[in-house]
Amino acid sequence: MNELRYLGHSAFFIKNGDYGILIDPFISQNPAVKFDVRDTSITHIFLTHGHGDHLGDAIAIAQATGAIIVAVFELANYCQARGVKTLSVGLGGEIKFGWGSCWFLPAFHSSSTPDGHYAGCAASILFDIDGVRIFHAGDTAMTTEMKLIGDFYKPYYAILPIGGHFTMGIPEALYSAKMLNVKEVIPMHYNTFDVIQADVISFITSLEEQGQRGIILKPNESIEIQ
Ligand code: NI
Ligand code: MN
Repeated sequence: MNELRYLGHSAFFIKNGDYGILIDPFISQNPAVKFDVRDTSITHIFLTHGHGDHLGDAIAIAQATGAIIVAVFELANYCQARGVKTLSVGLGGEIKFGWGSCWFLPAFHSSSTPDGHYAGCAASILFDIDGVRIFHAGDTAMTTEMKLIGDFYKPYYAILPIGGHFTMGIPEALYSAKMLNVKEVIPMHYNTFDVIQADVISFITSLEEQGQRGIILKPNESIEIQ
């Protein structure tokens, strides 16, 4: 049994036995989130790209806990130069861990660090945790990749941005959910800032109309994934 906890914005924490997987930890600057960033059960930190609302506290957490940062080559190098353990990856192939596997996959978005370093390409990440497949889209526009990812990797859950402006919005997230052909969708990247306000209830209602289930998680809420 795994627990998936929402930490607001695009941040999630997945607990799998002795492993703790943190994704896009934008935490200390998000007043909605309560999370102990010195939590030593964090073993891996995944970054979809280098923007401040995704890189967040990753380096400080890795320094405090010894967790390894997994990111695209350029972003991994940036983190490594700041004294933390990293695993550098590229888009495409399966990367294996004690808890399962992941694939870094395309996202149509930019990527740089808050202090202006080039951070390689932005990514989405497909996780297979003990056989449960979860697609975290990162920051992306709607793309036809969603169809390919759905056909080939067959995720059960999709975590999709719905706030628009910097990413896809609700109409595109609905169509992406259809292309991904997932059973359940968790919306993210909305209402954190003024320009990404979104009507999450209407999103969930429209998902139901197209035969898919939406799960609204408030920051700090979690679900069991199976
Ligand atoms: Ni971004
Ligand atoms: Mn973002």
